[in-house]
Amino acid sequence: MTDNFIILHHRSKLTDEENELLAAAEAALENAYAPYSHFRVAAALLMEDGTIITGVNQENAAYPAGLCAERVALYRAGAELPNVKINRMAITFRSDREDSTEGISPCGGCRQVMMEFIHRQNQSFALIMPLTNDTWLRVLNAEALLPFGFRTKTL
Ligand code: THU
Repeated sequence: MTDNFIILHHRSKLTDEENELLAAAEAALENAYAPYSHFRVAAALLMEDGTIITGVNQENAAYPAGLCAERVALYRAGAELPNVKINRMAITFRSDREDSTEGISPCGGCRQVMMEFIHRQNQSFALIMPLTNDTWLRVLNAEALLPFGFRTKTL
């Protein structure tokens, strides 16, 4: 692990800003629409103007038509505050079926979308997410989550 990935062994190790953003994501879990997987996911973005934008997973009877929480939050930011940079992201989850001792990590599609936002705003952002029920991963530069990703210049 390089300095870009920092493992924090207790919630108390998070900064106030991370805690506040995580609390916003946790509150948003109630709004997740996950009747098929029963697996609620929420993401919260701290924008550089201080606005917090949340997103929750949106499932659909035609399963692949659903969308992850991370992309819902990112696309909301793109739609509502297209010229405001994203400073930080927090991700959390809750299964309605079982208590999980594991964490969550964004899927490849969401990493691709994060990368495009990072290039659009010409600045990376940090991310905080649970690795277990009380271990947290702080990623200082979210771009590192997708090495060799597909870029505009490839088009
Ligand atoms: N999901 C997310 O919203 N974000 C992730 O990082 C992983 C998975 C959603 C998609 C689907 O609604 C449910 O979790 C189960 O895969």
